[in-house]
Amino acid sequence: MKGVIFNAAQQAVIELFDEDTWDDLLDEAGVDGVYSSVGTYDDADLVAIVVAATKATGLSAEEVMVAVGRKALAHLADRVPTLIGECTNAYEMLGMIHDVIHVEVMKLYEDAQPPQFSYADLPGGGLRMGYRSPRNLGALAEGLALGVGDRFGEELRVTRHPATSDGEVFLDIVSLGAASAD
Ligand code: HEM
Repeated sequence: MKGVIFNAAQQAVIELFDEDTWDDLLDEAGVDGVYSSVGTYDDADLVAIVVAATKATGLSAEEVMVAVGRKALAHLADRVPTLIGECTNAYEMLGMIHDVIHVEVMKLYEDAQPPQFSYADLPGGGLRMGYRSPRNLGALAEGLALGVGDRFGEELRVTRHPATSDGEVFLDIVSLGAASAD
């Protein structure tokens, strides 16, 4: 996994908790925690950090990934400001992830292997994104999608379905309108 994802996860944990929490997670995970954005690191490091976070918070691994992905999106988006500058709502930006944003990511980060997304309209309104990746990080994808909603002040309802027999995870995404301030 590219270091930029670890960097965004670090920023997310610091926002959700603090710097010391991130350092504690690295210690518990037994990883050195020095991640250059352009470097490539073992996926097992990310798993170890998530496992450490489950112990520290009592949340499940999936809950940790959703929460971290949701906060991390803002930091990833900052890496490609010109691409998303013209998006006016969450559906528009989500529609650009596969063919525009992750394509640019592959130019910016040598040997990056972002996941595959398919798109379909949901009957009754909304967007169905089909996620495929050997990394099986559907919960992270759900969190990142929720983060896209936050970026536009929209409340999204994201329903993540169990993987199909050929490994596709559908995310059904419906915008419920402006998020209520809390
Ligand atoms: C907006 C800016 C975004 C940027 C700059 C970005 C960039 C990246 C990068 C650099 C990677 C790492 C690839 C690798 O290590 O080989 C990645 C992975 C990933 N991206 Fe994005 N991404 C963005 C938005 C999103 C959104 C909105 C979603 C979901 C709806 C998403 C889903 C994922 C997932 C789940 C992975 C983990 C790798 C995997 O599952 O195989 N990304 N992205």
